[in-house]
Amino acid sequence: MLHKDVFEKLMSEEELAQTVSALAERISADYAGRELIVVGVLKGSVMFFADLFRRLTLDECQMDFMAASSYGSGAASSGKITLTKDITCNVIGRDVLIVEDILDTGNTLSYLRDYLLEKGAASVKICTLFDKPSRRKKPITADYTGRVVEDLFIVGYGLDYSEHYRNLPYVGVLKAEIYS
Ligand code: PRP
Repeated sequence: MLHKDVFEKLMSEEELAQTVSALAERISADYAGRELIVVGVLKGSVMFFADLFRRLTLDECQMDFMAASSYGSGAASSGKITLTKDITCNVIGRDVLIVEDILDTGNTLSYLRDYLLEKGAASVKICTLFDKPSRRKKPITADYTGRVVEDLFIVGYGLDYSEHYRNLPYVGVLKAEIYS
């Protein structure tokens, strides 16, 4: 982790906490009185997932995790999605919320949403901390979005560049010379 590679803080720890709390409040209101399976997409969503999940005020919510690979080790998405970890709970007839760190081309979330619906989920909604609509290749929108961002390379709070920077407690913009 090299803090000097990040030239601008996009969201501070305080801003992240406020954003996550607001999302948790909306989700808790929308699913009040219902059971919810909250599925985190590894690895990028781990910090967001942990902070969001503990703020949900639902009586009946379960956590599960999936992993999908799309970026490889560089900055450009290959477009091909590989499921590297499946959920373990039964989603048939259940409401599912997918939790992601970032919605970019939409390839990953389109694949995961369709996959969970095919498995028999009653509903599949999406919560993403960041959304980059300018990069979209699949017609998909999130039901809950923390913040819309420009086409900048952002890292920290779980988001990586070649597995670096995930441990930054804030979200920052990576200097272009690091990845170009
Ligand atoms: C990132 C991110 C999303 C996906 C978004 O995951 O966490 O899952 O890319 O991109 P898309 O909308 O273009 O599909 P990545 O494959 O880098 O894995 P990671 O979560 O382990 O960092």
